[in-house]
Amino acid sequence: MLSKRKSFPHLISKGFLTSHSVGTTMAKLSVEIAGLKLDNPFILASGIWGETGATLARALRAGAGAVITKSIGMEPRPGHANPTIVELDTGLLNAMGLPNPGIAAYGDEVREALKPGKPVIGSIFGADEREFVHLAKRMEGYGVNALELNLSCPNAKGYGSQIGQSPELTKKITAAVKGAVGIPVFPKLTPNVASIAELAKAAEDGGADGICAINTLKGMAIDLELARPILANKTGGYSGPGIKPVGLCAVFEIFKAVKIPLIGMGGISCGTDAAEYLMAGASALQVGTAVLVRREKTFTTLSRELDAFLRSHKYGSANELVGRAHGSVGAPAEAAKGGS
Ligand code: DHB
Repeated sequence: MLSKRKSFPHLISKGFLTSHSVGTTMAKLSVEIAGLKLDNPFILASGIWGETGATLARALRAGAGAVITKSIGMEPRPGHANPTIVELDTGLLNAMGLPNPGIAAYGDEVREALKPGKPVIGSIFGADEREFVHLAKRMEGYGVNALELNLSCPNAKGYGSQIGQSPELTKKITAAVKGAVGIPVFPKLTPNVASIAELAKAAEDGGADGICAINTLKGMAIDLELARPILANKTGGYSGPGIKPVGLCAVFEIFKAVKIPLIGMGGISCGTDAAEYLMAGASALQVGTAVLVRREKTFTTLSRELDAFLRSHKYGSANELVGRAHGSVGAPAEAAKGGS
């Protein structure tokens, strides 16, 4: 889908740290979040390769620590009319419109995705807590290891951010799902609000086991010749390298507001992006748009680059970075010099 010519040249050229790990063992990249054990922090984000079990399994075999399914709803949905994607210099705009086969048809896909033996997180979207509970129970029955609640898609009337912009509804839906299933529940929050930290607190109050932040920013692009919006839906969700500062800031602020662990995302495309998100407070990370550029190599490349950063800066593990930017400890090399 993305041409080589326009595939975010700065993304390709930046961050390819040379690996310090040739011939030695990797730094400890494994992480644990709400009891889920990941052999590295990099999780395939929802909506990227997630409509079939085969592509989810492919991401796991290519080195993803875990995968998240496409968001699945009550009934099959075709999604929005084309154009649904606009490629920008700094990322992507998309308005897919939550296309999915419906929960009744998704069991075989989950079973296929589970074959590599790594965590599979089921993403669900509903119009209210009754739908969310139904979807959560079905997904749990299919065998997923955790749930992501899509309270943040900016593209579908009556779903996603239209519900998730309300702290009250975020808490209510989270609490209803938590009361209905035994697996960890991770609400995915929208940045299109005045305070994402307030939403995170509401999710925590509803019993969430962790928070995913951020989903896409609402945006648009205009066709100058036609003098109309390019996307058939007019507006879409903006993702990719351009939103990294927004995602980092959200994770930093949420980390201060809640005690539950965070899964950070938004523009992660190299190992040092990952290190920044861990330092801001994320315990695990999601990768979406970068997978469309780097494809199968995404996960091994990110792991290798994060390992190189950890080694060159004298960290023993990815966990040692989590929340580091909030404290006075600083980096190991600085501490060794007696800095604080
Ligand atoms: C969809 C788009 C998004 O940007 C998102 O974050 C979630 C869902 C969609 O339109 O399907």
